[in-house]
Amino acid sequence: MSLDYTALARDLQALLGDERDPQANSANTCALLFEKIPRLNWAGFYFLRGKELVLGPFQGKPACVRIGMGRGVCGQAALRQETLMVVDVHQFPGHIACDSASRSEIVIPLAREGRLIGVLDLDSPERGRFTSQDREGIERLAAIFVAATDFSLLSLD
Ligand code: SME
Repeated sequence: MSLDYTALARDLQALLGDERDPQANSANTCALLFEKIPRLNWAGFYFLRGKELVLGPFQGKPACVRIGMGRGVCGQAALRQETLMVVDVHQFPGHIACDSASRSEIVIPLAREGRLIGVLDLDSPERGRFTSQDREGIERLAAIFVAATDFSLLSLD
């Protein structure tokens, strides 16, 4: 059975409540996603600082800290400002392997008023784990996180 993203969206909205803090909200968002979305080995955030993406809160194994724009799946999604779904990361030129167990990946860019804030990155040990239904659902969750959060409290320099 496919995951009920409507219920998960409700859970996320309730979890974030009136909280606006980017650190608290990103930590809780990735904890909820990692717990509720099956077959993930990593879920977390990279935030734009200057010209690089820098590791934010996450669940999973320790990860690389800085990713240049255009580098790896995260850097490409950030550069193009579009969601990237990679069926098999071994086939993605320039993929940055943080956890050798990762096989497929989805990266959703986060933006407010056209300005890039960072990316939400989910990895799975299963090839082709993410479907268009996951993409729609996870994009909706990312939008809830962005709408709930005051990014002026986060240094983007
Ligand atoms: N695989 C990513 C790097 C981040 S880790 O997966 C946590 C990439 O190629 O951008």
